[in-house]
Amino acid sequence: MSVFVKKSIAQLTAADKEGSLKRTLGAGSLIALGIGAIIGAGLFVRTAAAAGEHAGSAVTLSFIVAAIGCAFAGLCYAEFASIIPIAGSAYTYAYATMGEIIAWIIGWALILEYALGAATVSISWSEYANKLLGGKIPYEWSHSPMESVLINGHSVHGYANLPALLILVIISALLIKGTQESALVNGIIVFIKVAIVLVFIAVGWQFINPANHTPYLIPANAPDIKLQDGTTYSYLPFFNHGWGGIISGAGVVFFAFIGFDAVSTAAQEAKNPSRDMPIGILGSLVVCTVLYILFSWVLTGVAPYTDFMKSGKEASVAYAISHYMAGYTWLSTLVTIAILAGFSSVILVMLMGQSRVFYTMSHDGLLPKIFSDLHPKFKTPYKSNIILFVFVGAFAAFVPGSVAGDLTSIGTLFAFVLVCFGVIILRKKEPNLARPFKTPLVPLVPILGIIICTLMIIGLPRATLMSAGLWMIVGLVIYFGYSKKRSKLGSGADILPTASDFEKH
Ligand code: ALA
Repeated sequence: MSVFVKKSIAQLTAADKEGSLKRTLGAGSLIALGIGAIIGAGLFVRTAAAAGEHAGSAVTLSFIVAAIGCAFAGLCYAEFASIIPIAGSAYTYAYATMGEIIAWIIGWALILEYALGAATVSISWSEYANKLLGGKIPYEWSHSPMESVLINGHSVHGYANLPALLILVIISALLIKGTQESALVNGIIVFIKVAIVLVFIAVGWQFINPANHTPYLIPANAPDIKLQDGTTYSYLPFFNHGWGGIISGAGVVFFAFIGFDAVSTAAQEAKNPSRDMPIGILGSLVVCTVLYILFSWVLTGVAPYTDFMKSGKEASVAYAISHYMAGYTWLSTLVTIAILAGFSSVILVMLMGQSRVFYTMSHDGLLPKIFSDLHPKFKTPYKSNIILFVFVGAFAAFVPGSVAGDLTSIGTLFAFVLVCFGVIILRKKEPNLARPFKTPLVPLVPILGIIICTLMIIGLPRATLMSAGLWMIVGLVIYFGYSKKRSKLGSGADILPTASDFEKH
């Protein structure tokens, strides 16, 4: 059977009918769901990293570049979500349009997005939790073995990041138990998160020091920085200053936008998916972009970007408030609590998204059955949740947040590129298909999406690119060694769907 075998829309919607999920979400709830998954470590941790390492105060431009890439990809997601309004996200779209092997590659890349995304955010959770506890957790037990710092002239190495493991245990247990009240909890957390971002922007605006925004881009001759581990950091390389730095910074802050595609995984619960999915995806993207630009302008105006390479590296927002916004220590504590709640909701959505993708892939025979076994009482994929916890926990405990974060970004960007390709392919193959939402200016918009997302991939660190390449090779070995032979679609002679099975108007 060809590796390009495709699922038909008929099969996908039949699977939808089997499901017992209730259609309860309107456009507003979908936007809230998106914001719940979107605002997290990307904004509260990686903004400072991108400013300190690559873009300086021009990190606002990095946000705009990343937002443009996401908008193009988001328009392509919206078209698919309106045609195929069922769970599974990019993996499902690819299975219906580009064939099994591409679907597998996307599913494999989505593991980087969701699983490593959850690991990255749990590492950030650990930073802020330690900040809230006044730094009481020893460095060794709140950092990976790949990190070190100079304390009293001695180099101290991390052993394992235990707080990150703790939050993962709690959220995995919650997911196994079931998340009946998740929409309500998510709504409350979204309200708190957005309120805190707005308060920080409003209060911080008065503390902006224009000198911190000058020069706006990092100059090539910016002096080297002495880091906490005793080494120095140079701004001379192409991606560490000027426009190169802005592109590289875009790849780093791109993490802040990850999650809008998670809206598409809730398609089965949407009341009117054809109309509301595009609104949910694009609406949450627009709200977050505006907040991000304002937030990063204030953060880099309050503290000089070089601080984010030194003691302001961790829990940067709380740092900026307590060091530069006199009289607002209370805000620092409040922000920290809100951020912790916000991170928890992002981890929850990421882990849930991952187990749903695993569930679908396992149903299709591409992954072992264990990933779709349901708990007899809770009806959740508990074995999948436990395996996922071990995998994600290993990354959270032993890998630095920046490495896990960059891998997450690559996986997501790669999925975006393929979804953009998918729109072009489907327009050619199935021009008459009913499309409740149409991506404008095809092929221009998908092509621009492909170019910008590829640029952001290239701007990420070389070592991360190599690791991602290795991950994809492992994925292909598993596909040809295991999944291809066990694929239900690939081996079912009676189900030979083609794209022509799509409903036509
Ligand atoms: N966008 C999510 C975050 O920033 C993943 O935490």
